Amino acid sequence: MQNLKVLLWFWSFLLSLILRTSTSMDSIALSQSISDGETLISRGGTFEVGFFKPGNSNSQYFGIWYYNVSPLTVVWVANREKPLNNTSGILKFTDQGLVLVNGSTNSTVWSSNMSRKSENRNLVAQILDSGNLVVKDGHDEKQILWQSFDYPSDTFLPGMKLGMDLVTGLERSVSSWKSTDDPSRGYYEAKIDRRGYPQVVITNGTVIIVRLGPWTGLTFSGATLYLRYTQLSNEFVFNEKEIFYDLFIG
Ligand SMILES: *[C@@H]1O[C@H](CO)[C@@H](O)[C@H](O)[C@H]1NC(C)=O
Ligand SMILES: *[C@@H]1O[C@H](CO)[C@@H](O)[C@H](O)[C@H]1NC(C)=O
Ligand SMILES: *[C@@H]1O[C@H](CO)[C@@H](O)[C@H](O)[C@H]1NC(C)=O
Ligand SMILES: *[C@@H]1O[C@H](CO)[C@@H](O)[C@H](O)[C@H]1NC(C)=O
Ligand SMILES: *[C@@H]1O[C@H](CO)[C@@H](O)[C@H](O)[C@H]1NC(C)=O
Ligand SMILES: *[C@@H]1O[C@H](CO)[C@@H](O)[C@H](O)[C@H]1NC(C)=O
Repeated sequence: MQNLKVLLWFWSFLLSLILRTSTSMDSIALSQSISDGETLISRGGTFEVGFFKPGNSNSQYFGIWYYNVSPLTVVWVANREKPLNNTSGILKFTDQGLVLVNGSTNSTVWSSNMSRKSENRNLVAQILDSGNLVVKDGHDEKQILWQSFDYPSDTFLPGMKLGMDLVTGLERSVSSWKSTDDPSRGYYEAKIDRRGYPQVVITNGTVIIVRLGPWTGLTFSGATLYLRYTQLSNEFVFNEKEIFYDLFIG
């Protein structure tokens, strides 16, 4: 009898472990939210998204980091210029997009701007294994309404584009944190300089400190860019719709 109890306990313990692993989610649906302590983990276990406090800071941010990598390596921050000071935030997924609110007052601290609104009630917000947090149509994988890759922080990941969308006017650049405790914009920025023939530059304020040139075989070694892949290719695209530099694996 005693043995049976132990066996039952053991099975329920195993089951709870299995359930715990299988309930780790990579997406939320409309009207769901993420609170402090809750996270989403990308399907292949590469990236995690949720609330964090950088370094010795008391401020809370919503962002994306490498799952299970120590020390905490953050690749994207939503409210980098608007920290939650000593308060817990809640990330809500509404038909306006992702909205970060002060948990005690409900006041909006940050929100994603969806360029295209949708009547669709089947939207999902999902963290992908590329590190991209996307809001998309749950039925149509290609209908991306918003993506964090359009608003890089200090990390340039494969699949991101550095540069300009000439149709929407969206400009994507990568900028350093102010310090390890403060993800707000620091001195350094990598972007496309469109004066003359477009090229990738790294600036310190208004001063260009590195010109990476427009194309080929570039290795970013600036303080602002952390690359974790070795097999990378890059391309420089310049046409009437877009000017961008990007990286891809392979
Ligand atoms: C948090 O505190 C800093 C410094 O005191 C302030 O600049 C910032 O606006 C505050 N953040 C919010 C969301 O109120
Ligand atoms: C959140 O609300 C509390 C209570 O009103 C306030 O003390 C705090 O400064 C607010 N935090 C932010 C980041 O707005
Ligand atoms: C947050 O709380 C800590 C300790 O209570 C305090 O030292 C710090 O000044 C507070 N920060 C803000 C921005 O209110
Ligand atoms: C925040 O908003 C939700 C619904 O939007 C509501 O249920 C909740 O009571 C609000 N909390 C505060 C503190 O206003
Ligand atoms: C959203 O759009 C408004 C108005 O165009 C702008 O002020 C705000 O900074 C944008 N927010 C983000 C997160 O891009
Ligand atoms: C960038 O600018 C800051 C402020 O002007 C300066 O302190 C720093 O030394 C500069 N860094 C480089 C690499 O030029």
